[in-house]
Amino acid sequence: MTWIELGNPTPHTAPQHYTPINWQVGEAHYLPIPEQLIKAPFGEVISARRTRRSFGPISANDLGALLWASCRVEREGHHELGFSLTLRPVPSAGAIHPIHVIANGPADANWWLYNPSEHRLEQLVEVDPALADVRSMLENIVPPRDATILLFAAEPGKTFAKYAEACSLLWRDAGVLIGHLSLVAEALGLSFCPLGVTGDQWVKKLNQQGHLAGVGMALVGSMD
Ligand SMILES: Cc1cc2nc3c(=O)[nH]c(=O)nc-3n(C[C@H](O)[C@H](O)[C@H](O)COP(=O)(O)O)c2cc1C
Repeated sequence: MTWIELGNPTPHTAPQHYTPINWQVGEAHYLPIPEQLIKAPFGEVISARRTRRSFGPISANDLGALLWASCRVEREGHHELGFSLTLRPVPSAGAIHPIHVIANGPADANWWLYNPSEHRLEQLVEVDPALADVRSMLENIVPPRDATILLFAAEPGKTFAKYAEACSLLWRDAGVLIGHLSLVAEALGLSFCPLGVTGDQWVKKLNQQGHLAGVGMALVGSMD
């Protein structure tokens, strides 16, 4: 076994400035805002939560509710780092939220970036053809069937703008996000399965400048 030391994060004495990725996006689809907050009692949700591995298609309402209850921007803070700090349902080190959620539905050739300020999906354009193989490559891990694939793409420069030795913060942010999504999915009656693969080989292809790192993947769908 090799345990890789990730260091101990410490804030820089003077925060650095980071210019976020300028995503090339095409059409945008606003997701429905849930009409009511999740009513399921929290105790029942945590007792019932299980990883589920069979997936029907997810509706726009359910995908909207999942992302709304997990990732949407509720409040913006200062921009001293070169981008806004934000408060969202899920916590993040330094309120930086460096992880992008990128989705691909069944029978859809496109990959969609969740815009958490606008609560909409934005089509990624000029995506490397290698991403067309993701769904078939997952067959040997957890067959996706009609699942929507979620790719978690970290933008490490954001967290490194505030902290030295920030790697572990990004991995912990990924774990918090995936755990939060798993509970919200359960509360919404959805199947959700985290995947051990980082997705890095595909995420790297989404930014030629090397500003992204894959920090996990998950499958989500309706319960069959
Ligand atoms: C980081 C992480 C990676 C996982 N990777 C996989 C995976 O690749 N395939 C899979 O079938 N389940 C995966 N799981 C789900 C676990 O197998 C599951 O959480 C575990 O069996 C306990 O079951 P429960 O989630 O129903 O409590 C993963 C879970 C986590 C938290």
